[in-house]
Amino acid sequence: MTRKTTDPKQVGASRRTLVLALLIGLAAGVLTAVLLATLPSGAPSTQTTGKALIGGPFSLLDPSGKRVTEKDFAGKPLLVYFGFTHCPDVCPAGLQVIAAALDQLGDKANGLSAVFITVDPERDTPELMGKYVASFHKNIIGLSGSPEDIAAVTKTYRVYAKKVPDETNPGEYNVDHSSFMYLMDRNGEFMRHFPHSVDAKALADALAKAIDSPASGSDA
Ligand code: NI
Repeated sequence: MTRKTTDPKQVGASRRTLVLALLIGLAAGVLTAVLLATLPSGAPSTQTTGKALIGGPFSLLDPSGKRVTEKDFAGKPLLVYFGFTHCPDVCPAGLQVIAAALDQLGDKANGLSAVFITVDPERDTPELMGKYVASFHKNIIGLSGSPEDIAAVTKTYRVYAKKVPDETNPGEYNVDHSSFMYLMDRNGEFMRHFPHSVDAKALADALAKAIDSPASGSDA
């Protein structure tokens, strides 16, 4: 019986198996190395900053025509909503929810900023945005800008917006657009988004949580 293990054929076979196993292991190692090398550098950190894929720097005009950027909102959580003043139903519904949530927060609402950015810069002047948004809530800031400003910010927030003919008003147009609210933390990092149909209480709770979340700076 012991002879079997010393059988040259057997020994040869197990050596071949061992060599094969080593080669497979080596190939797997090489493949892993190649895969890692071809991935963008720092793949794991891309994942953590994947949040930042929504939002980022912007440059827009406030209702007085003053240029504002994301830096003007730094230090507080920021709720960002996109739409346009001619919007028949979705935008007003979303703005009403935001207004109701701000009312529920009461004084606590001073701990965050809320902006409504137009996707229709041709018709929505800074002044018009200011008047329109003020009819919903005094704490929501309407923002407009040049078509280039708006193209840049919608791209940054991955907002879909496209002009389409208004079927009920020949010669006029509507803007098809995605209608999410984006909650950014006090450092300008994306936290989460909500549909425009979000419940006001749920939104208020989420905003309160963002306001209470510790700051990396001193104003906690
Ligand atoms: Ni709308």
